[in-house]
Amino acid sequence: MAKNIVVLGIQWGDEGKGKIVDLLTRHVGAVVRFQGGHNAGHTLVVDGRKTILHLIPSGILHSNVKCFIGSGVVLSPAALIQEIEALQGSVTNIERRLRISHTCPVIMPYHTLLDKLRESAKGKKAIGTTGRGIGPAYEDKAARRGIRFSDLLNEDVCRSRIEEVLDYHNFVLKHFYHSDTIDADNLVRESLTFGEQLAPMIGDVTVELTDCIAQGDSILFEGAQGTMLDIDHGTYPYVTSSNTTAGAASTGSGIGPMLIDGILGIAKAYTTRVGSGPFPTELFDETGAKLASRGQEFGSTTGRPRRCGWFDAVMVQRACLVNGVSSLCLTKLDVLDGLDEVKICTGYEVDGTYVEGFPDIARLSTCRPIYEVLPGWQAATAGIKTYTDLPQAAKDYIDRLENLTGCSVDLVSTGPDRVNTIVRNSPYS
Ligand code: GDP
Ligand code: IMO
Ligand code: MG
Repeated sequence: MAKNIVVLGIQWGDEGKGKIVDLLTRHVGAVVRFQGGHNAGHTLVVDGRKTILHLIPSGILHSNVKCFIGSGVVLSPAALIQEIEALQGSVTNIERRLRISHTCPVIMPYHTLLDKLRESAKGKKAIGTTGRGIGPAYEDKAARRGIRFSDLLNEDVCRSRIEEVLDYHNFVLKHFYHSDTIDADNLVRESLTFGEQLAPMIGDVTVELTDCIAQGDSILFEGAQGTMLDIDHGTYPYVTSSNTTAGAASTGSGIGPMLIDGILGIAKAYTTRVGSGPFPTELFDETGAKLASRGQEFGSTTGRPRRCGWFDAVMVQRACLVNGVSSLCLTKLDVLDGLDEVKICTGYEVDGTYVEGFPDIARLSTCRPIYEVLPGWQAATAGIKTYTDLPQAAKDYIDRLENLTGCSVDLVSTGPDRVNTIVRNSPYS
């Protein structure tokens, strides 16, 4: 029976969503990205061969599957073209299988410029964005001055929209940031070229996804970033500029929420974060450095080192609530192999007082995590494919996480390769 499932991040991104989307794609007819942009970096490893995707859905390696970019995604045509070109030769029929919503807001060069200028103006208070223009593009969308993909397909529309928007942005660039401005003629020319190149892939995503469903195909909704980076429910203002949570799967793809059958939350067996903002369980010691080096915790988009810390069960429980998570996938369990002990944050204390539930951002920034300490496991879990083969201490760790978060861990990932996965309960069974 067809099943439409949302796969999304439960922490601050980079949980291993791409790997799991690629693994589950064999059950579906279509994979759709519904928010974010090329700030995402999703790593797939199949038979030792690594593919890093930013905008193209992580189902693209399956030659019979359609991949959609829904209207909730802010789209950089230059980044998309570059990504398509990089995949040519190793991936078949990309142009035929990739479908882009005509209503996607376009990330323009002034968005990228503004993102970088703003971050440097903020100094120590910078968000640590990926510098890809994501925030400014979503701002323009909300301000109703954004340029949509369909605007690039008609010369008159494109010119008039760009001239109008540049009136505003060039004023800000010149007078507020004392920066160079953007030349309208060049931008119109470049944008029309991008429009022409991508035009064969532009379509009505709502209609095409509905057709897939009518044919009996399952749809997989692929989240980018993570719940704690959500513009409403994350650690604001240290967040991205989109809704990364489950509801966005519907609004960002143009498919009614009643058609969604399940929400699979992806959580790392520990926690990482790139960029600024509160992180209660962050480690600054040798263990943190060990997690970073064993987990190869460097951003796949910007190459920045990821901050590392223990698993935060309070935060994950909150994320499960916000998303209505049906079950969890725990990734990178193997990175904890060989530690004497593993810690789980089960609560927070502020000024010596226990905080009930998930605190507001001010208290989250100053709180002290309360830890439960469990014995580590010395035997390797790396590459294990069967749950019963895991060392008992690793099973106890997973059991405890299930109890604390109230969610069952249905999948466990034990390595970067597609095959390094334990499926205890398939979301498609
Ligand atoms: P995403 O943004 O959520 O798709 O995650 P990223 O791809 O940015 O980061 C996850 C990183 O961990 C990638 O380098 C993956 O290849 C790697 N990875 C995924 N699952 C596992 C796992 O179970 N064990 C190990 N060691 N690495 C993993
Ligand atoms: P995936 O999909 C981890 C972070 C940035 C910054 C904040 C805002 O690979 O999990 P933005 O450029 O979006 O305005 O930056 O969000 N961030 C991510 N962190 N993984 C990601 O994506 C991220 N996308 C954005 O580091 O702190
Ligand atoms: Mg990533």
